[in-house]
Amino acid sequence: MKTLNDFLQMKKNGEKIVMLTAYDYPSGRLAEESGIDVVLVGDSLGMVVLGYDSTVPVTMADMIHHTRAARRGAKNTFMLTDMPYLTYQISMAQAMENAARLVQEGGCEGVKIEGGEEIAPQVRALVNAGIPVCGHIGLTPQSATSLSGYKVQGRTAEAARKLLHDALALEAAGAFMIVLECIPAQVAELISKRLSIPTIGIGGGAACDGQVLVFHDTLGLFERFVPKFVKQFETLGAKARDALGAYAAEVRAGAFPDEAHSFSMNEEQLKQIYG
Ligand code: KIV
Ligand code: NA
Repeated sequence: MKTLNDFLQMKKNGEKIVMLTAYDYPSGRLAEESGIDVVLVGDSLGMVVLGYDSTVPVTMADMIHHTRAARRGAKNTFMLTDMPYLTYQISMAQAMENAARLVQEGGCEGVKIEGGEEIAPQVRALVNAGIPVCGHIGLTPQSATSLSGYKVQGRTAEAARKLLHDALALEAAGAFMIVLECIPAQVAELISKRLSIPTIGIGGGAACDGQVLVFHDTLGLFERFVPKFVKQFETLGAKARDALGAYAAEVRAGAFPDEAHSFSMNEEQLKQIYG
Protein backbone atom coordinates (compact mmCIF):
# COMPACT_ATOMS: atom_id res chain seq x y z
CA MET A 1 0.00 0.00 0.00
CA LYS A 2 1.34 3.44 -0.91
CA THR A 3 1.94 5.97 1.86
CA LEU A 4 1.47 9.74 2.11
CA ASN A 5 5.21 10.08 1.61
CA ASP A 6 5.05 7.96 -1.55
CA PHE A 7 2.49 10.37 -3.02
CA LEU A 8 4.77 13.35 -2.28
CA GLN A 9 7.70 11.53 -3.84
CA MET A 10 5.66 10.65 -6.91
CA LYS A 11 4.89 14.32 -7.43
CA LYS A 12 8.56 15.22 -7.01
CA ASN A 13 9.57 12.54 -9.52
CA GLY A 14 6.90 13.52 -12.01
CA GLU A 15 5.30 10.09 -11.63
CA LYS A 16 1.53 10.29 -12.18
CA ILE A 17 -0.81 9.16 -9.40
CA VAL A 18 -3.75 7.08 -10.58
CA MET A 19 -6.97 7.28 -8.57
CA LEU A 20 -10.18 5.44 -9.37
CA THR A 21 -13.46 5.25 -7.51
CA ALA A 22 -14.77 1.92 -6.22
CA TYR A 23 -17.87 1.21 -4.21
CA ASP A 24 -18.05 -2.49 -3.53
CA TYR A 25 -16.14 -5.78 -3.50
CA PRO A 26 -15.87 -6.34 -7.28
CA SER A 27 -14.91 -2.75 -8.16
CA GLY A 28 -12.43 -2.61 -5.27
CA ARG A 29 -10.88 -5.89 -6.33
CA LEU A 30 -10.63 -4.84 -10.00
CA ALA A 31 -9.07 -1.50 -9.02
CA GLU A 32 -6.46 -3.18 -6.85
CA GLU A 33 -5.67 -5.87 -9.41
CA SER A 34 -5.21 -3.13 -12.05
CA GLY A 35 -2.54 -1.41 -9.98
CA ILE A 36 -4.55 1.71 -9.11
CA ASP A 37 -2.63 3.87 -6.59
CA VAL A 38 -5.62 5.27 -4.66
CA VAL A 39 -9.16 3.93 -4.41
CA LEU A 40 -11.73 6.62 -3.73
CA VAL A 41 -15.06 5.57 -2.31
CA GLY A 42 -16.71 8.65 -3.77
CA ASP A 43 -20.12 9.96 -2.88
CA SER A 44 -20.64 9.72 -6.65
CA LEU A 45 -21.97 6.33 -5.56
CA GLY A 46 -25.22 8.20 -4.93
CA MET A 47 -25.56 8.65 -8.68
CA VAL A 48 -23.80 5.68 -10.26
CA VAL A 49 -24.77 2.99 -7.75
CA LEU A 50 -27.86 4.23 -5.92
CA GLY A 51 -29.50 6.08 -8.83
CA TYR A 52 -30.00 9.48 -7.18
CA ASP A 53 -29.86 12.64 -9.31
CA SER A 54 -27.04 14.14 -7.22
CA THR A 55 -24.66 13.34 -4.36
CA VAL A 56 -26.76 15.34 -1.88
CA PRO A 57 -28.92 12.46 -0.52
CA VAL A 58 -25.89 10.26 0.31
CA THR A 59 -25.61 9.44 4.02
CA MET A 60 -22.87 8.41 6.44
CA ALA A 61 -24.49 4.95 6.57
CA ASP A 62 -24.19 4.68 2.76
CA MET A 63 -20.51 5.68 2.82
CA ILE A 64 -19.63 3.28 5.65
CA HIS A 65 -21.52 0.41 4.02
CA HIS A 66 -19.78 0.91 0.65
CA THR A 67 -16.34 1.60 2.14
CA ARG A 68 -16.52 -1.71 4.01
CA ALA A 69 -17.41 -3.54 0.81
CA ALA A 70 -14.71 -1.81 -1.29
CA ARG A 71 -12.18 -2.52 1.46
CA ARG A 72 -12.90 -6.25 1.28
CA GLY A 73 -11.99 -6.11 -2.43
CA ALA A 74 -8.99 -3.78 -2.11
CA LYS A 75 -7.23 -4.70 1.11
CA ASN A 76 -3.82 -3.38 0.02
CA THR A 77 -4.65 -0.14 -1.76
CA PHE A 78 -4.67 3.32 -0.13
CA MET A 79 -8.36 4.11 0.28
CA LEU A 80 -10.08 7.48 0.65
CA THR A 81 -13.75 7.94 1.46
CA ASP A 82 -15.82 11.03 0.70
CA MET A 83 -17.47 12.72 3.65
CA PRO A 84 -21.11 13.21 2.57
CA TYR A 85 -22.93 16.51 2.18
CA LEU A 86 -23.33 18.46 5.45
CA THR A 87 -21.45 15.94 7.59
CA TYR A 88 -18.41 18.19 8.16
CA GLN A 89 -19.57 21.83 7.79
CA ILE A 90 -21.78 22.19 10.84
CA SER A 91 -19.15 21.98 13.57
CA MET A 92 -15.63 20.80 14.21
CA ALA A 93 -16.94 18.09 16.53
CA GLN A 94 -19.31 16.83 13.86
CA ALA A 95 -16.50 16.69 11.28
CA MET A 96 -14.21 14.83 13.68
CA GLU A 97 -16.87 12.35 14.73
CA ASN A 98 -17.93 11.54 11.17
CA ALA A 99 -14.40 11.27 9.79
CA ALA A 100 -13.50 8.95 12.65
CA ARG A 101 -16.49 6.74 11.82
CA LEU A 102 -15.44 6.47 8.16
CA VAL A 103 -11.93 5.43 9.17
CA GLN A 104 -12.86 3.16 12.08
CA GLU A 105 -16.10 1.59 10.86
CA GLY A 106 -15.48 1.87 7.12
CA GLY A 107 -11.79 1.00 7.20
CA CYS A 108 -10.42 3.67 4.84
CA GLU A 109 -7.03 5.37 5.27
CA GLY A 110 -8.30 8.93 4.92
CA VAL A 111 -11.18 11.17 3.91
CA LYS A 112 -11.95 13.68 1.18
CA ILE A 113 -13.95 16.84 1.78
CA GLU A 114 -15.18 19.47 -0.65
CA GLY A 115 -14.40 23.16 -0.22
CA GLY A 116 -11.61 25.71 0.09
CA GLU A 117 -10.46 28.13 2.75
CA GLU A 118 -13.84 27.92 4.54
CA ILE A 119 -13.20 24.29 5.54
CA ALA A 120 -9.49 24.72 6.33
CA PRO A 121 -10.20 24.60 10.11
CA GLN A 122 -11.83 21.18 9.69
CA VAL A 123 -8.89 19.97 7.60
CA ARG A 124 -6.48 21.10 10.31
CA ALA A 125 -8.50 19.44 13.08
CA LEU A 126 -8.76 16.12 11.23
CA VAL A 127 -5.07 16.14 10.30
CA ASN A 128 -4.12 16.95 13.91
CA ALA A 129 -6.19 13.95 14.97
CA GLY A 130 -4.18 11.76 12.60
CA ILE A 131 -6.70 11.47 9.78
CA PRO A 132 -5.25 12.14 6.32
CA VAL A 133 -7.38 14.61 4.37
CA CYS A 134 -7.68 15.11 0.62
CA GLY A 135 -9.21 18.41 -0.50
CA HIS A 136 -11.56 18.91 -3.45
CA ILE A 137 -12.07 22.27 -5.17
CA GLY A 138 -13.37 23.59 -8.49
CA LEU A 139 -16.64 21.93 -9.37
CA THR A 140 -17.75 20.58 -6.01
CA PRO A 141 -20.85 18.47 -6.73
CA GLN A 142 -22.23 18.72 -3.18
CA SER A 143 -22.67 22.46 -3.71
CA ALA A 144 -23.78 22.27 -7.36
CA THR A 145 -26.97 24.11 -6.40
CA SER A 146 -25.05 27.13 -5.09
CA LEU A 147 -22.70 26.94 -8.09
CA SER A 148 -25.80 27.14 -10.34
CA GLY A 149 -25.21 23.73 -11.85
CA TYR A 150 -22.45 21.43 -13.03
CA LYS A 151 -20.15 23.68 -15.00
CA VAL A 152 -16.50 24.59 -15.43
CA GLN A 153 -15.16 26.68 -12.53
CA GLY A 154 -12.32 29.20 -12.37
CA ARG A 155 -12.77 30.71 -15.82
CA THR A 156 -12.36 34.34 -14.76
CA ALA A 157 -9.13 35.80 -13.39
CA GLU A 158 -10.85 36.39 -10.08
CA ALA A 159 -12.24 32.86 -9.88
CA ALA A 160 -8.87 31.38 -10.85
CA ARG A 161 -7.12 33.40 -8.14
CA LYS A 162 -9.70 32.19 -5.63
CA LEU A 163 -8.98 28.56 -6.60
CA LEU A 164 -5.25 29.05 -6.09
CA HIS A 165 -5.93 30.79 -2.78
CA ASP A 166 -8.15 27.89 -1.65
CA ALA A 167 -5.61 25.28 -2.74
CA LEU A 168 -2.86 27.04 -0.77
CA ALA A 169 -5.15 27.30 2.27
CA LEU A 170 -5.89 23.56 2.14
CA GLU A 171 -2.20 22.75 1.79
CA ALA A 172 -1.35 25.03 4.72
CA ALA A 173 -4.08 23.32 6.79
CA GLY A 174 -2.37 19.97 6.24
CA ALA A 175 -4.20 18.36 3.30
CA PHE A 176 -1.97 15.73 1.66
CA MET A 177 -3.63 15.87 -1.77
CA ILE A 178 -6.23 17.98 -3.61
CA VAL A 179 -8.73 17.00 -6.28
CA LEU A 180 -9.22 19.68 -8.95
CA GLU A 181 -12.52 19.15 -10.73
CA CYS A 182 -13.64 20.85 -13.93
CA ILE A 183 -11.30 23.82 -14.13
CA PRO A 184 -9.28 25.15 -17.09
CA ALA A 185 -6.11 23.13 -17.66
CA GLN A 186 -3.99 26.26 -17.35
CA VAL A 187 -5.39 27.04 -13.91
CA ALA A 188 -4.86 23.44 -12.78
CA GLU A 189 -1.30 23.60 -14.07
CA LEU A 190 -0.59 26.82 -12.16
CA ILE A 191 -2.03 25.35 -8.95
CA SER A 192 -0.10 22.10 -9.42
CA LYS A 193 3.15 24.05 -9.81
CA ARG A 194 2.50 26.23 -6.77
CA LEU A 195 1.67 23.35 -4.39
CA SER A 196 4.08 20.84 -2.96
CA ILE A 197 1.28 18.34 -2.35
CA PRO A 198 -0.08 16.42 -5.36
CA THR A 199 -3.11 17.57 -7.33
CA ILE A 200 -5.48 15.01 -8.81
CA GLY A 201 -7.42 16.18 -11.82
CA ILE A 202 -10.85 15.27 -13.12
CA GLY A 203 -11.53 17.67 -15.93
CA GLY A 204 -8.37 19.50 -14.83
CA GLY A 205 -6.08 18.76 -17.76
CA ALA A 206 -2.86 16.80 -18.10
CA ALA A 207 -0.59 18.92 -15.90
CA CYS A 208 -2.14 17.65 -12.65
CA ASP A 209 0.02 15.27 -10.62
CA GLY A 210 -2.54 12.52 -11.05
CA GLN A 211 -6.00 11.79 -12.41
CA VAL A 212 -9.22 10.36 -11.03
CA LEU A 213 -12.20 8.88 -12.84
CA VAL A 214 -15.40 7.26 -11.68
CA PHE A 215 -15.33 3.46 -12.07
CA HIS A 216 -18.66 3.32 -13.90
CA ASP A 217 -17.66 6.17 -16.25
CA THR A 218 -14.31 4.58 -17.09
CA LEU A 219 -15.96 1.32 -18.09
CA GLY A 220 -19.06 2.72 -19.77
CA LEU A 221 -21.43 1.44 -17.10
CA PHE A 222 -22.97 4.83 -16.33
CA GLU A 223 -24.93 5.81 -19.40
CA ARG A 224 -27.30 8.53 -18.20
CA PHE A 225 -24.85 11.22 -19.38
CA VAL A 226 -21.14 11.39 -20.23
CA PRO A 227 -19.33 14.56 -19.08
CA LYS A 228 -16.68 16.01 -21.43
CA PHE A 229 -13.85 15.03 -19.07
CA VAL A 230 -14.85 11.35 -19.07
CA LYS A 231 -13.13 8.88 -21.34
CA GLN A 232 -14.89 5.54 -21.56
CA PHE A 233 -12.09 2.99 -21.85
CA GLU A 234 -14.73 0.32 -22.41
CA THR A 235 -18.44 0.15 -23.13
CA LEU A 236 -19.35 -2.52 -20.61
CA GLY A 237 -22.95 -1.32 -20.42
CA ALA A 238 -23.53 -2.33 -24.04
CA LYS A 239 -21.59 -5.57 -23.55
CA ALA A 240 -23.61 -6.39 -20.44
CA ARG A 241 -26.90 -5.86 -22.29
CA ASP A 242 -25.73 -8.19 -25.08
CA ALA A 243 -24.70 -10.86 -22.59
CA LEU A 244 -27.88 -10.63 -20.51
CA GLY A 245 -29.99 -10.66 -23.67
CA ALA A 246 -28.20 -13.85 -24.78
CA TYR A 247 -28.91 -15.43 -21.38
CA ALA A 248 -32.61 -14.60 -21.61
CA ALA A 249 -32.83 -15.87 -25.20
CA GLU A 250 -31.14 -19.19 -24.33
CA VAL A 251 -33.42 -19.78 -21.36
CA ARG A 252 -36.49 -19.05 -23.49
CA ALA A 253 -35.21 -21.32 -26.28
CA GLY A 254 -34.40 -24.15 -23.86
CA ALA A 255 -30.73 -23.94 -24.86
CA PHE A 256 -29.55 -23.09 -21.35
CA PRO A 257 -28.78 -24.98 -19.21
CA ASP A 258 -27.19 -27.62 -21.39
CA GLU A 259 -25.51 -30.81 -20.18
CA ALA A 260 -22.27 -29.01 -19.42
CA HIS A 261 -24.09 -26.88 -16.85
CA SER A 262 -26.25 -29.63 -15.34
CA PHE A 263 -25.69 -32.44 -12.85
CA SER A 264 -26.46 -36.09 -13.48
CA MET A 265 -26.56 -39.49 -11.80
CA ASN A 266 -25.39 -42.83 -13.22
CA GLU A 267 -27.72 -45.77 -13.99
CA GLU A 268 -26.83 -47.54 -10.73
CA GLN A 269 -27.73 -44.53 -8.58
CA LEU A 270 -30.95 -44.02 -10.53
CA LYS A 271 -31.98 -47.65 -9.98
CA GLN A 272 -31.45 -47.25 -6.23
CA ILE A 273 -33.90 -44.40 -6.18
CA TYR A 274 -36.53 -45.48 -8.68
CA GLY A 275 -36.02 -49.30 -8.51
O1 KIV B 1 -17.43 11.27 -5.69
C1 KIV B 1 -16.50 11.14 -6.51
O2 KIV B 1 -16.39 10.15 -7.24
C2 KIV B 1 -15.50 12.21 -6.57
C3 KIV B 1 -14.48 12.15 -7.66
C4 KIV B 1 -15.10 12.27 -8.99
C5 KIV B 1 -13.38 13.12 -7.45
O3 KIV B 1 -15.53 13.08 -5.75
NA1 NA C 1 -17.34 13.14 -4.42
